[in-house]
Amino acid sequence: MEEIIALAKRRGFIYQGSEIYGGLAGTWDYGHLGLALKNNIKNTWWRRFVLDREDMYGVDAAILMNQNVWKASGHVAGFFDPLVDDLKTNKRYRADSLLEEAGLSIKGMSIEDMNNLIKEKGIKSPEGNPLGEVRQFRMMFTTHVGANQDEASVSYLRPETAQGMFVNFKNILDSFHPKIPFGMAQIGKAFRNEIAPRDFIFRTREFEQMEIEYFVNPKAWETSFDHFRNEMHAFASDVGLNPAKVHEHEIAPEDLAHYSKRTIDFEFDFPMGIKELYGLAYRTDFDLKSHSDASGVDLSFFDEETKERYIPHCIEPSLGVDRTVLAVLTDAYSEDDVGGEKRVYLKLSPKIAPVLIAVSPLLKNKTQLVEKAREVYGILRKEFPGRIMFDDNGNIGKRYRRQDEIGTPFCITIDFDTVEKDQTMTLRYRDSATQDRLSIEQIVKVVKEAI
Ligand code: GAP
Repeated sequence: MEEIIALAKRRGFIYQGSEIYGGLAGTWDYGHLGLALKNNIKNTWWRRFVLDREDMYGVDAAILMNQNVWKASGHVAGFFDPLVDDLKTNKRYRADSLLEEAGLSIKGMSIEDMNNLIKEKGIKSPEGNPLGEVRQFRMMFTTHVGANQDEASVSYLRPETAQGMFVNFKNILDSFHPKIPFGMAQIGKAFRNEIAPRDFIFRTREFEQMEIEYFVNPKAWETSFDHFRNEMHAFASDVGLNPAKVHEHEIAPEDLAHYSKRTIDFEFDFPMGIKELYGLAYRTDFDLKSHSDASGVDLSFFDEETKERYIPHCIEPSLGVDRTVLAVLTDAYSEDDVGGEKRVYLKLSPKIAPVLIAVSPLLKNKTQLVEKAREVYGILRKEFPGRIMFDDNGNIGKRYRRQDEIGTPFCITIDFDTVEKDQTMTLRYRDSATQDRLSIEQIVKVVKEAI
């Protein structure tokens, strides 16, 4: 992980948030290449789950919402983590993490159960000090909207994008008249005041989610649940994750969230262990029913085919963007030996690599080579918009090393044979570090087959 964090900073993927002021825990800033990688991941998700389907409606809801949304959703009453203090240092920890790290099961445990277990087993803080009483810690960031700072102006930074879709359910029905089943999809920021943000971008206080709320007839929920289960695996493969590292974990009934009747966590082999990557939940009619009751607006659906009126049930595939970035980076990080020298490279899928092709003149002070390289660069930019880099920094060996480190799958070099002989150029493949001499048409064909 340390090597990946260092590479991410060195090469312009991800920086510590507010770094020049010593940082702000749980926040990270994406640089030019990290942003390109993140956008490619989001676009891949949007294409599979929205553009390539006829039953999905996109939404981009406001992050700030009426406080009643969070009362009806259950977050105001129940979105807490168990917090415990080290009585000597006053450092704060998540009680469930400390118990799990001590090898104890916390399945279905209340705060009281955790308190009892800490006392019974003599669990100490990581510094070896006694712990205080476990208590509930609100994970939503609270703010005020408008000039008055009173109870009525309270709002929250959303802890999930999901609620922005439930509150727009009726708008989508009225605008598009969809048939059941249909879904709503959203990509956006979510915020949680995590007690212990950790593991780089794995657990942060500000992150992005890609979520779907898919509305079904309650009699048919299992078909859609299985469909999205397969689609989530397919998406993990789309972004190049090794399927052998993606595991399903069925959540035990006593550990389900208050809204869920069934949840499968998709876990990934991260460097720090097997951890949650995504979640797939059967949210029943919990949210639409709660919002219908709380707002007084009828959120039922009349099914023209079956002539039934009911509140649709909901299947929710929820995917973290930043966790996908971390999984992709850790899975892609590779080391080998090229020409007797250690090489570090990112084996990113050509579908999501920030740079797809780097184009270089063999020598940067030879005008004819630079002009030809610029011409090739211009042609390729039209074929693969936004995915080509012109690179004439340093010597050719250094360029290849730099492009390997940022995961560029293809490098093209324009040399004297290109301009003086036959217009062919070298195409270098990142993973094998081998090269072919090809025409630009042949190169376009090879690259198109890879993406
Ligand atoms: N709407 C359901 C929901 O939000 P969740 O399991 O709490 O469910 C869904 O979150 C996904 O969001 C997780 O699987 C993970 O990918 C991502 N996620 C959650 N908390 C996160 C955090 N603190 N930092 C980064 N990603 C997070």
